Amino acid sequence: MNTEIHPALVGSLSSTAPSEEVINFSPGPTSLPKAVEAQIAASFNQPGFTSLSISHRAPEFLAILDHAVSTAREVMEIPEEYEILFTHGGGHGQFAALPLNLCAEASDIASYVVNGTWSARGRDEADRYCNVHTIDGRDPETGKFTTFPELTEANVNAESKYLYLCSNETVNGIELHRLPKLPESLKHIPLVVDASSDFSTKPIDWLGCNVGVLFACASKNIGHPGLTMTVVRKDLLGKASPLCPGVFNYTTNSEAGNLWNTPATFNIEVVGMVMDWLVKEGGVHECERRSIAKSNALYDVIDKSNGFYATPVTNTSLRSRMNVPFNIAGGDEALTNKFLIESWDKGMVGLRTLTPFGVGDYLRASLYNGVTVDETKRLAAFMHRFQIENS
Ligand SMILES: Cc1ncc(COP(=O)(O)O)c(C=O)c1O
Repeated sequence: MNTEIHPALVGSLSSTAPSEEVINFSPGPTSLPKAVEAQIAASFNQPGFTSLSISHRAPEFLAILDHAVSTAREVMEIPEEYEILFTHGGGHGQFAALPLNLCAEASDIASYVVNGTWSARGRDEADRYCNVHTIDGRDPETGKFTTFPELTEANVNAESKYLYLCSNETVNGIELHRLPKLPESLKHIPLVVDASSDFSTKPIDWLGCNVGVLFACASKNIGHPGLTMTVVRKDLLGKASPLCPGVFNYTTNSEAGNLWNTPATFNIEVVGMVMDWLVKEGGVHECERRSIAKSNALYDVIDKSNGFYATPVTNTSLRSRMNVPFNIAGGDEALTNKFLIESWDKGMVGLRTLTPFGVGDYLRASLYNGVTVDETKRLAAFMHRFQIENS
C-alpha cells in the first residue's frame, strides 16, 4: 500500500465507508447533530422562502432571530443582565473586538492568560489595540501548554479592564470544566471568555464568576462558520474606543437589536435549531453528562494502554472533554499513518486535520454536540483493538 498518498493522511473526510457509518471527529467546522442536519435539509424542500432569501428586516426573520436569542438564553441560563449578540468575523473578529469595546484608550490594561494556541492568538491580536499584560500559563517545568495557572494578585494586573481566558483550548486539549472565581481583591475585573469550542456543553455561572463577555464562534457546537455568539454584560456597553468599527461595536449592535447591518441570517436560524435540539435532549446539564461519558471513553483507553497511547494533559481536572489529543507509540510515524488509514477506512474521519498551526504532534478526537456517546465508543473500541494488534 502506498501510504504517502492515502487521502486519510492529507486530512480528507471522504471515507469510503458507507455514509451512515461515517463519524466526523473534526475540530470544527464539523457535523451538527443528525436530527438538526435533517431539519436543515428539510427546510430547503419546504414551500416558501428559506432564511437565505428573506430580508433580515422581514417579520419572518425577526421571528427567527427572536427565537434564536430566547432559546439560547433559556438553554444557557443567560441572565437578563446580558445582551446576546450575533457578530461577524468569527473568533478572530472577537479577538480584535474585545479590546476595541472594553478599552477606550490604547493605554488601558487587559490581562491575558496564555495557556494554549488560541489564547496566544487572542493575546497577540489584542496587543495591537491595548496594553496587554500576559499571564504565562505554560507548565513552568516543561514550558509546554498543558496546564492552567492559579489567578492571584501576583499575576493578574489589578488595573485590568478585563481578564481574558480561553475555557477550552481546542488544539492543546485543556478545558476549564468550571470558570474560575477571582479572589476578593480582583473581583472588580470582569472575565472575558473565549468559549468557542465548549459553549453549550456545560453550565456557566454568569454572575457568580463575574463574566463580562463570553463569545463562541458557532462552527463547533452550535452552528456553522461565519457566525459568532457574543454575550455581553450590559454595564460594559458604551465603553468602546472611538476606533471600534461599527460591525464590531457591541453597543451599536445591541441598540440595533442585532440588525445594525445584515446578519448571517441562515446561520442564526441554525443556532435556533441547535438550541431547540438541546432543549429536547435535556439541556446543557445532559450535554455535560454526555461530554463526560464521551471523553472518559477515550481517556480510559489511553490511560490503560501501557503507554501505547499518550495524551499531553496529565491533570485529569483540566483534560478537555471536547478535544482529546493523543499520539501513538510516542508519535511513531508509520504506526500513526496506519492508524489514520485504518480508522478512516472504517468511517472515522477528522482525527488529523490541517490547521494554521500545522498538523501538530498529536491526533485529536473532537467530541462536539454532533458526535454521540455510541459513536465515541466505536472509536474507543477501535483504538483498543489497534493497540492489541500493534503493540
Ligand atoms: C477556542 C477557539 N477560539 C477561536 C478560534 C478561531 O475562530 P475563527 O476561525 O472563527 O476565527 C478557534 C477555532 O478553532 C477556537 O478553537
